Amino acid sequence: MNYSGIIFDLDGVICFTDKYHYQAWKKMADEIGVYFDEVINNRLRGVSRMASLDIILERSKKEYSQEEKEKLAYEKNEIYKELLCKMSPADLSAEVKDTLDALRQKGCKLAIGSSSKNTKLILGRIGLDGYFDAISDGTNITHSKPDPEVFLKAAEFLGLNPSECLVVEDALAGIDAAVAGGFDSAGIGEAATHEKVTYPLESFSGLLGI
Ligand code: BG6
Ligand code: MG
Repeated sequence: MNYSGIIFDLDGVICFTDKYHYQAWKKMADEIGVYFDEVINNRLRGVSRMASLDIILERSKKEYSQEEKEKLAYEKNEIYKELLCKMSPADLSAEVKDTLDALRQKGCKLAIGSSSKNTKLILGRIGLDGYFDAISDGTNITHSKPDPEVFLKAAEFLGLNPSECLVVEDALAGIDAAVAGGFDSAGIGEAATHEKVTYPLESFSGLLGI
């Protein structure tokens, strides 16, 4: 591993919150009578909360004001946070935990680079409170992926340059963000199919082969 720092996306990389995002958005969409399904939900991966809402409202006949949109996003997040209470350390796989520990053993600094404003809540639920050397998340950025801001901040928090860090992502928008920031990247899931991903991986533990 030739990288001093590794910056991990959270949702879809360290743990899986897709179903909770889906259930919460679905409840909100049903309440306002807007069609929403799992295919549309897939488009929300790596996308900020407000940008996700805009995607969902593409199906709405009604125009929503900024204030109304903020209320809808707030309601969705309240439902989502309630669902996150179901998460526990059992939602952190042994593969992910063992790989993180092994990378740290090799001397790598580990950071989170996530669009989510619920990052600290989620890390706490899965037993990773205080584990990472730095956390850059939705609370410290003004531009969401594919903008590189969240990763640039993570590198800065680690005291490293982008060229010294590897970004690990599951979303295409996340690889776009890594490329835009001058980072090498490792992609899992859909991100492994991105034409500009540096290391397409079959599984999280594949990081140990880099
Ligand atoms: C990303 C998820 O990590 O965080 C997106 O992939 C989500 O689906 C985004 O919309 C924002 O999350 P939150 O928790 O701030 O609403
Ligand atoms: Mg993700």
